[in-house]
Amino acid sequence: MHEPLAYMNAFLEVKAYLEDLAKREGADVPIQYPPEDKLGDLALPVGFKLAKQLRIPPEEAAKRFAGKINHPLIDKVEVANGYVNVFLKRGDVSADVLKAAMDKNYGSAERGGRVVIDYSSINVAKPMHIGHLRSTVIGGSLRRIYRFLGTEAIGINYLGDIGTQFGKLIVAYKRWADEDALEREPIRELLRIYVKFHEEAEKNPSLEEEAREAYRRLEEGDEEYVRLWKRFRELTIRYAQKIYDLLGVEFDEISGESFYVEKARELAETLLKMGIAERDPETGAIIVDFGEKMGKDIILKSDGTTLYLSRDLAALLDRIERYNPDKLIYVVGSEQSDHFRKLFWLADMLGVKRGLVHVPFGLINLPEGKMSTRKGRVVFLEDVLKKATDLAGREMQKRGTYNEEDARKIGVGAVNYAILKVEPEKNITFEWSRILSFEGDTGPYLQYSTVRARKILGKAGDWTPKSAENVNDDEWKMVKLIARFPEVLEEVVQKDRPHVLARYAYELARGFHSFYDHNPVLKSEEPTRSFRLSIVSAFHNVLARSLELLLIQEPERM
Ligand code: ARG
Repeated sequence: MHEPLAYMNAFLEVKAYLEDLAKREGADVPIQYPPEDKLGDLALPVGFKLAKQLRIPPEEAAKRFAGKINHPLIDKVEVANGYVNVFLKRGDVSADVLKAAMDKNYGSAERGGRVVIDYSSINVAKPMHIGHLRSTVIGGSLRRIYRFLGTEAIGINYLGDIGTQFGKLIVAYKRWADEDALEREPIRELLRIYVKFHEEAEKNPSLEEEAREAYRRLEEGDEEYVRLWKRFRELTIRYAQKIYDLLGVEFDEISGESFYVEKARELAETLLKMGIAERDPETGAIIVDFGEKMGKDIILKSDGTTLYLSRDLAALLDRIERYNPDKLIYVVGSEQSDHFRKLFWLADMLGVKRGLVHVPFGLINLPEGKMSTRKGRVVFLEDVLKKATDLAGREMQKRGTYNEEDARKIGVGAVNYAILKVEPEKNITFEWSRILSFEGDTGPYLQYSTVRARKILGKAGDWTPKSAENVNDDEWKMVKLIARFPEVLEEVVQKDRPHVLARYAYELARGFHSFYDHNPVLKSEEPTRSFRLSIVSAFHNVLARSLELLLIQEPERM
């Protein structure tokens, strides 16, 4: 599954050469990118490690290592404080990097293998909340990145489609549902009757009993009730699909907990027979002892009711059976970390030998405040996206560039970027004016950068890429940034963390602005003009690709 990067370039080639050499010399150290040009392009802290082995001072060890370096793309090597600082031949490396980076497929690879990614996984008849948005966007982006790197990624939306709330919904539906409203705005209407149920049940507790009865009949397969449940499910999918379309998120499979009730029951019995689970002598439930840290948990109630955990385990085994993936990834909030620890523990006991990854994420705080589905205090995702689009539109109006299509791309892009740029474990606070600003670490700033680069290229007329004799520091900085793209993508899939790509995209855009501010492109003489145009063109290609992988569309005008 870890094929070498197919789209290498001269810069990464030298880096790989140095890594290899260091390894062979017994100093397996990570190569660093020095913060300043005068410290070289690549730095190896080999001296300290080799000093111990060779029993000589670090400086001396670094010098010995430096003496072994021999590569046609290396200009010079300096030793300082146990570091070996390597300077590349700017002209040759630039020519190769830019040529590679102007190719449409730059950064793509043929890693092979397959992964299954579980994301979004919303609950039927409930509004998608902002936490689901984070899962949806991270998962959707990961799916694209894996595919770009040649790993088959299967995106699964695992619906929360069972639970006692369906009893309540059925009761509420029969009494208060408005069919027209249900067709027009299904989730708002389902939420309205769900809230009404709780209000009425306070006055009239027998409703709760009725709901339990309805749920029992649903489980027994009562035809009418199953039909209603199916309808709630369909309406939810239809509602969510609109949001997925807006966000640019795709799935390969819509499944759900309801598919795994039978299998979960059988599985609980199997675990019992295998001695992984035991029967609780008091309650008769099947339980698992996960050890000191995780404690005990039920996997099958005494009345045969399955649980979230047992269904998830059945679903996991089913995914392995149907897709045979190398890795299973779950993008789910960190409040479920314990759940996934138990799930993976069980999988391990059953001999599952695949990568099992939980990508946990923190909260998103909206200025609009906290939600409660029962009380109907809900922030609808479609409203969040609409607000972002309106705000983007207002900014464009000020600039005289307003058009509906681009306003939507900028609004949605701002939200997606605000989510993806943050390390998943951290909480996010949305501040509308901040995330929509055309300047700073925002989606609109990155989009603006692509538009600006495209404008330059549009005005350039005919040109062909030329290499440069002397590459200045600004130009070289851009080349080095562009060169790292394939490596950044590889890091994303190693860690299953798309924020690594978002951080890179921002650095790249900032680099471009400072390059362009100090180095005229169209007005400079040949061959500098064509050389700089190749930088602009490669930059545009890489940034546009990065944005696409981060679910951000390139606007026409802004
Ligand atoms: N439906 C769950 C929720 O909204 C998330 C399910 C995540 N996926 C999974 N395989 N457990 O909290």
